Amino acid sequence: MNYPRPFGPELSLKLKSFRGHAKPIKLGQIDFDSKLILAPMAGICNIPFRILMEDLGAGGTVSELISCHGINYGNQRTLEMLKIHPLERNVGIQLFGEDPESMAKASEVAESYGPKFLDINMGCPVTKVVTKGGGSALMKDIKNLAPLFEKMRSRMKIPLSIKIRTGWDSSSLNAAEVMKIAAESGIEWVAIHGRTRTQQYTGQANWDFIENLNEVKKTPLIGNGDLHHPYGVSERLQKTQCDALMIARGALRNPFIFLESLDPHYASQKRSVFNGSDYWEVVQRLHHYTTETFSEERTILVQIRKLVVWFAAGFPHAAAFRSRIFTCQNLEECMKISEEYFLGLGSAQKFINYDEVFMSSGHG
Ligand SMILES: Cc1cc2nc3c(=O)[nH]c(=O)nc-3n(C[C@H](O)[C@H](O)[C@H](O)COP(=O)(O)O)c2cc1C
Repeated sequence: MNYPRPFGPELSLKLKSFRGHAKPIKLGQIDFDSKLILAPMAGICNIPFRILMEDLGAGGTVSELISCHGINYGNQRTLEMLKIHPLERNVGIQLFGEDPESMAKASEVAESYGPKFLDINMGCPVTKVVTKGGGSALMKDIKNLAPLFEKMRSRMKIPLSIKIRTGWDSSSLNAAEVMKIAAESGIEWVAIHGRTRTQQYTGQANWDFIENLNEVKKTPLIGNGDLHHPYGVSERLQKTQCDALMIARGALRNPFIFLESLDPHYASQKRSVFNGSDYWEVVQRLHHYTTETFSEERTILVQIRKLVVWFAAGFPHAAAFRSRIFTCQNLEECMKISEEYFLGLGSAQKFINYDEVFMSSGHG
């Protein structure tokens, strides 16, 4: 079964017209296609999802977190994760680890796979990562940061960025100090998720805190956290002092979030023009990129079905669709059920309850 890209390599006219609102921006030495960047997400930001999101207006993307030790041991599965597709335009690889030598060695290998930049994960709250001193634990003992940054910088040519949290906990909100060290050690830009490590994913991202950092920043700053719907993203875009914004979970239930947010007039109407057949175009693109990337049918099925179920969220009968998808036997059936569902939606509107908790754990 082959689902070609429905409009050849080109986007449909509707998607293209939305893309026209994307204005390129420069962060450090890199020209991103728009101010909205897809945030790294473990288990999600692989090649197919990253290409799809660039198609749909993301100015750049970041891989999921990849272990420096896995790279240095030559672990085959880890090395697979470093791969980049020629269609990817502005992709970064995110590394996690703790000691400068291992991170520097891994960064040389990662760079040889051809990303536009490398990023250090300094936000992961997961116990397994922080007990070894990686992820958000890097924000605890900041005297170790300059040697880490400098060692990595000395072994690579492309830009190096960091993704941090506001601090370890509410009594150690040290993002500004981390940003200062970063700027002095050759870090090109900083992305910040507006929560502490202790908060994990609870409460709300602290946007006042993020905006205040713009007063002291010495490098470009990318704000992140709870930008879940186009209206909210567009409002933030208009008032933020940040150089760019990052979106993670919002792209899972609404793959059009980048395109919809980039047009302020459209976003203010809070009504989507993207209907079931637009979603079907997205699913076909996803199928195309996923089958191009992975060879095992089981892997392709697992990748596609979790995304189509998220994409259906908020449309009528999404729960029934979800149970059909999760009981289907193979990829062909999954695509048939998806085609029937999305094309059968006609002009039905999507209503997502943004107050409901959605994915409250992750690696950053
Ligand atoms: C499933 C999932 C996986 C994540 N994986 C990573 C990761 O690998 N690296 C990272 O820096 N952040 C990771 N994050 C954090 C996101 O990049 C982002 O900072 C966070 O979700 C807040 O943004 P949002 O409100 O737009 O989702 C992950 C988040 C989720 C939900």
